[in-house]
Amino acid sequence: MSNQENLEMAHRQHVKYFMRFLDILPSSLSSHDTTRVTIAYFSVAGLDILGSITSISLDLRSRIIEWLYQLQVHPDKETGDMSMCGFQGSSTVNVELDPATAHFRCGHLAMTYTALCSLITLGDDLSRINRKALVQGVKALQTEEGNFAATLSGCESDMRFVYCAACISYMLDDWSGFDKDKAFKYIVQSMGYDYGIAQCPELESHGGTTFCALATLKLTNQLDKLTEEQVEGLKRWLVFRQIDGFQGRPNKPVDTCYSFWVGASLKMLNTLKLTNYGSNRRYVYETQDTVVGGFSKWPDTCTDPMHTYLGLAGLSLIGERGLSKITPTLNITKRAHEHLKSLHEKWAKES
Ligand code: FPP
Ligand code: ZN
Repeated sequence: MSNQENLEMAHRQHVKYFMRFLDILPSSLSSHDTTRVTIAYFSVAGLDILGSITSISLDLRSRIIEWLYQLQVHPDKETGDMSMCGFQGSSTVNVELDPATAHFRCGHLAMTYTALCSLITLGDDLSRINRKALVQGVKALQTEEGNFAATLSGCESDMRFVYCAACISYMLDDWSGFDKDKAFKYIVQSMGYDYGIAQCPELESHGGTTFCALATLKLTNQLDKLTEEQVEGLKRWLVFRQIDGFQGRPNKPVDTCYSFWVGASLKMLNTLKLTNYGSNRRYVYETQDTVVGGFSKWPDTCTDPMHTYLGLAGLSLIGERGLSKITPTLNITKRAHEHLKSLHEKWAKES
């Protein structure tokens, strides 16, 4: 439902909206069944941004945690091989396979990243994560070019999975599966003549992939390896993505999700303040459904959990009242990030 005049957050409706996805996957989203973990992440992290993580009862919280742990792929019992380790996206694909097809049972970097974000946001202590195995799973997916494939069973490799691999390595506090130099070279090679960053070298610069690249540079402490010309060019390219809301690339329509992808990129470069918060905010609110909750990418179109989460995350970046602050690099709340840091301190003491 369009909400052009109303800049009030439909907080209660958004809480109900996310809670519904933790209960049931509507038939309209059945094609997303194999990536259910991402929907759980958007819902759990979305409730956290809304300051409503306690809407998830302790019973539901432990059921979500159990379900997530069941999706973890463990090392091969006979050979000890860890290259397939990670998280799968859904119980539908997490089944015992016969030997001929067993290689399809492997983690997927985006699922591992979103499963870890969800566990951390739910306050789990990650004690049942096989950290060593997950790191080996990441290592097996880095290509010679420096980017990462999503899974071992064969699929595309691009900037999205460089980002997921960086987040996983950061969250597990172990970079031994991630070659930072190679990733840096790949990112610089994927920077275009316009200084935006693409999925792969020679492709079109895009707001989503620019976010993935910048967050990776920040997580690996390599942002200062970019030249001044590159940083200034990036800032310019990103600032020019604002129309009222943000677009992902020149001559394309604005979309709610870029208030996060582009907004977070600018935030990491300390340049978000050069944008117009009022028109950004008004656009995101135009895509809010005030009756059943949720945000969509465009006004008067269907809401979905991803645009709802990213709309809220984009508003949080510009200081929207009533929303929790987020850590843009990891795309979780600062509260969840603090919990993660406490786990890192505990692991450091234990080792
Ligand atoms: C649409 O492309 C694609 C998006 C809206 C997603 C962009 C986000 C990323 C690439 C980052 C993904 C991150 C992870 C961790 C998986 P389009 O061509 O339909 O849209 P456009 O017209 O707005 O460019
Ligand atoms: Zn979008």
